[in-house]
Order: sequence, then structure tokens, then C-alpha cells
Amino acid sequence: MLPSQEGPQSLPTPGASGPAAPSAHPVETEAPAPAVPFMRTIKSYVLRAGRTTTAQARAYTEHGPVHLVNFRPQPLQAEDVVQWFGRSAPLILEIGFGMGEATAHIARVRPHDNFLCCEVHEPGVGALLKRAGEQGLGNIRILRHDAVEVIDHMLPVADALGQGALLDGVHVFFPDPWHKTKHHKRRLIQPPLVAKLAQRLKPGGYIHCATDWAPYAEQMREVLGQEPLLVNTCDAPDGYAPQPDYRPLTKFENRGRKLGHGVWDLVFRRRAVA
Ligand SMILES: C[S@@+](CC[C@H](N)C(=O)[O-])C[C@H]1O[C@@H](n2cnc3c(N)ncnc32)[C@H](O)[C@@H]1O
Repeated sequence: MLPSQEGPQSLPTPGASGPAAPSAHPVETEAPAPAVPFMRTIKSYVLRAGRTTTAQARAYTEHGPVHLVNFRPQPLQAEDVVQWFGRSAPLILEIGFGMGEATAHIARVRPHDNFLCCEVHEPGVGALLKRAGEQGLGNIRILRHDAVEVIDHMLPVADALGQGALLDGVHVFFPDPWHKTKHHKRRLIQPPLVAKLAQRLKPGGYIHCATDWAPYAEQMREVLGQEPLLVNTCDAPDGYAPQPDYRPLTKFENRGRKLGHGVWDLVFRRRAVA
């Protein structure tokens, strides 16, 4: 059984913006502004023009109070997470869930895990709210915010013994490949971010990345392989993992596979201690 979906939708966050409701006429400009100004950094996303459907807008109203949580620029405590989900369970961070097709599937097949899901795209958040509400997925909480800021400001770093971290896993599925060389700096999977993620994982926690863009797969393998806190779970000569059974074949991926495109999964674990 999943936890009750009753109770406060989020922690009190003085000064933080409330759960982001869809605008009447969604314009793709900025993600919801954080409560404090941060330095302008290179973003891993561009907010795409895309209409929020009536059903997605309704999902914000109907399911937002249960499933949306607020960004706040202070580190979370374990009790905060328990309050969000109504229970204590392994916590998985997902970065960039798109329309949430895979996210909802994984939450359904892994009912004993809690999923904290970050996305900046308003229709995508509406789509996952709709799935979570309709399917009664009480183990999903959604943060409509830049995941990099969530990592930097909300997720505590483990100490030298690996204590104090909150994350048991991280999912980064089909992150924007940023094909052009001049845009490679926007790619999520780069040494600084991977180091931050590794520092925020509990010992034994994992990072699972997947991509259908071969050059990005190579970059992921290299970057994850060079992070001292991480070790590859797969000892195949090429380092790529078999697709874990919880990650579904989405419509997008299926279309790509039919066109002969490859897909690469990488699963690394955090070492017991640094
Ligand atoms: C190519 S889509 C993939 C979506 C989904 N994971 C899938 O497999 O279909 C990448 C998504 O990541 C989101 N994204 C990129 N950078 C992000 C960030 N820093 N924080 C939150 N979401 C981000 C984008 O808005 C986009 O929806």
C-alpha cells in the first residue's frame, strides 16, 4: 500500500513561491523564480513553447495539492522528506522527467520507493500530475524547478563516512543531448554535477543514466567512470549496463529503436566510504 495522500502538500517555506499553477496562457519564459537570487548559470534546458492542455491544467488544481512540493533554498532534513511522502522509504531523485511516462511506470512497479521528480516544463509537470493522480501514485512528489538548484540548495552532502545524505538513487533518462559542440556545456552529465550527485548519495546509492545519443553515452561513461566516489555496477567490457527491468520502453524510445537507434544505460554505485 502506498501512503495516504492526505496531509500537507509541502513544507512551510517562508518566502518561497507556492506550488506553481499553470498560467492561463502559458508562455515559455522563466522557470518559477526561486525565493533568493542565484547567480546566472548555464542552464541545461530551454523552456520550450508548448501548450498546457485543459486536462493538464486541471491536474494542477486537482492533484497539485498532494503531489507538488516547493523549492526552498535550505537543505532538507530526513523528517522533511517523511512529511512530504507520509512515510520513510528509499528516496530516488529524477532529473528531467519530460511528460512523466517512465516516471509513473517506475513509481508503480517500485511502490516501496519514494520518487522526488524535478522538471521545469509546465505541460510535463501537468502530465505527470495527471498520471500520478489518476493512478494513485502516492510515492511521487514533483518539484517544478531547475534540478541543479534543487541539488545545490536542498540536498545535503554526505560526510566523510557517507552519513547525512538523503538520496538512495538518481535517474537521468534521455537528458537533452545538446548535439552542437557549442552547446555541449549545457549537458547535465559533466564532472561537476556528477560529483555533486555522488556526494549527495548514501553509500551504496546509485546513479542510472540512459541516452540514445552515442556521443553523449560515451561522455556519460567517461564522466561517471572518472568520479572517484562511484563504481560501475556493470563489468561488461564496454561498461554499459543491460536495461534495468524497472525502466520501461517509452513510446519515444520504441520509435527510436524501430528506426535502428541504439540506447545505452549506465548504472554506477557510490562507494561505501570516500
Ligand atoms: C529530452 S527530455 C527527456 C524526458 C524524459 N526523461 C524522457 O525520457 O522522456 C529532457 C527533459 O529534461 C528537462 N530538464 C533539463 N534540464 C533540467 C533541469 N536542470 N531541471 C529540471 N528539468 C530539466 C527538460 O525540460 C526536458 O523535459
